[in-house]
Amino acid sequence: MAGTLQEGIFHGPGASPPGHCTQLFLRADRGTGAERVGELLAELWGVYRDLTRGTVRDLPGHPVDPGGLQVLIGYGPKVFDLAGAGRTLPATFAPEFRFRSASPSGGGPLLSGRGLQYAPDVRQNPATEEVCVQFTADTALGVHRPVVETWKLLHDRADPALGVALLAISAVFTGFQRADGRSWIDFHDGISNLRSDQRARVIQIDGETAAGDDWIIGGTYLAFLRLAVDLDLWRDLTRDQQELLVGRDKLTGSPLVGRTPEGGPRPDPRCPVAATTEVVDAGNEEFREPGTVDDPVVQASHVHRANQNKFEDAARPNSLRIFRQGYEFLEPSPVAPGFRAGLNFVSFQDTPDRLIRVLRQQKWLGDVNFGGEAGQQPAGMDRLLTVRGAGIYLVPPLVPDEPFPGAAVFG
Ligand code: HEM
Repeated sequence: MAGTLQEGIFHGPGASPPGHCTQLFLRADRGTGAERVGELLAELWGVYRDLTRGTVRDLPGHPVDPGGLQVLIGYGPKVFDLAGAGRTLPATFAPEFRFRSASPSGGGPLLSGRGLQYAPDVRQNPATEEVCVQFTADTALGVHRPVVETWKLLHDRADPALGVALLAISAVFTGFQRADGRSWIDFHDGISNLRSDQRARVIQIDGETAAGDDWIIGGTYLAFLRLAVDLDLWRDLTRDQQELLVGRDKLTGSPLVGRTPEGGPRPDPRCPVAATTEVVDAGNEEFREPGTVDDPVVQASHVHRANQNKFEDAARPNSLRIFRQGYEFLEPSPVAPGFRAGLNFVSFQDTPDRLIRVLRQQKWLGDVNFGGEAGQQPAGMDRLLTVRGAGIYLVPPLVPDEPFPGAAVFG
C-alpha cells in the first residue's frame, strides 16, 4: 500500500501555514552506522509524537499546550551513504538535482550561472546534513521546545567513551508568518501559489515521478534556502524600479500588465475592485495570478521569471510548478545594521528537478539574482539575495507499521 504525505505541509483547500516554523539539521558523527542513526531517530520520533500530544518527557503528569505542533522529517543524500543503509539513493536525488557547496573561501554559486550565490562570509553550507526536521506550530514555544527536547535526548545518548553525540544538531533556523501577507521587501508574498486542487499533484511523488524507486511514492522533496535580503540595496531603488523587478504594484499587489508611456509600471487598472484596497481582499481573486504580458521588462520580473508555465498541467514536472511554504526571518547580526532580514524559502515538490530548473535556467531565475532584465540590472542587484544555507531533503511517506517515516532507509 502506498504511503501518505507527512504532516507539516499546508496544501489543502483553505489551509494556511501556522505562525511559526523551525528547521533543525542533524549531522551523524563520522563512522556512525545507519542502524544506530535509525535507533536514535526512532527515539526522537517518539519524543515528537509525545510533544504533539502535550507530553514533555521530563514533566510526567504535567501536560503542556502543544501549540498545534506538527513534525516532518526528511533525509539528505548523505543518509544513503551510511554504512548498512537499507535503501539506495533515489534516482531523482542524483547529484545534478542538488545544490553546490559554498566555496571554502566564502561565497560561490548555488548552482551554475549568475543567479543565487552564497553570502561572502558563508564558507560551509549549514543546511546540508543527513537529517532535516521541520517543526510548525502556532506559537514560538511550540517550535522551540522540540529543538531543546531533541538536544536533551541526543545529549543523553552521547557515546560514553567519546562523550560526543552520535547525531548532533548542526543548525537551527527559525521563521515566522506575517499577518500582513508581505515580505521584508514590503511587497505581498505568497499570493500566487498554485490552486489548492493542483497542489497535491505537484507535491506528492507518484508511480511516475518515483522513477523506479517505488518506496518513495506518497512522499515529497523539501527544498530549503535561507536567503538574506540586502535591504540597503533594495531601499536605494525607486518604487518604480522595485515594482518592475517584482512584477506587482507595491501597495495593492496588483500584477503589472505593462509599462506606461514614460516607462513606469502599469498595474492592472481593474484591480483592486471598488471597496477593496489590496489584491488579497475578497473580490480580487481573478487578479492574483499575473496573466500573460508582452512587455519585455515585465516579462523579466520575478513573478514572471519564476512561473512561466502557469497554464500547463501543474502535475507534469515540466510545468516547473512548486508549492512554496516560506517563512520570514530576522536575526541579530554583528555588522550594521545589527540585524539580518530574509526568507526561509521552503518548497515542496515531487522531484527536486522542478526547483533546480527554475533556479538554473536562463530566462527563469538562472541569469539574475531576483528579477529584471539580465543586462539592465540596477546597481547591486546581483547580490540582493544571498544564500546562508541550502539543502534538499527526501520526505519519505508515512507507511503503516514503520516506527518513524523512512525507517527502512536505516536497514
Ligand atoms: C528572499 C527571497 C524572495 C523574495 C523576497 C521573493 C518575493 C516574491 C514576491 C514579492 C512575489 C510576488 C507575490 C506572489 O506572487 O506570491 C513572489 C512570487 C514568486 N516567487 Fe519569490 N521571492 C523570493 C525568492 C524566491 C525563490 C528563490 C524562488 C524560487 C523558485 C521564488 C519563486 C517564486 C514563485 C514561483 C512566485 C509566484 C510567481 C507567480 O506565479 O505569480 N521566489 N516572490
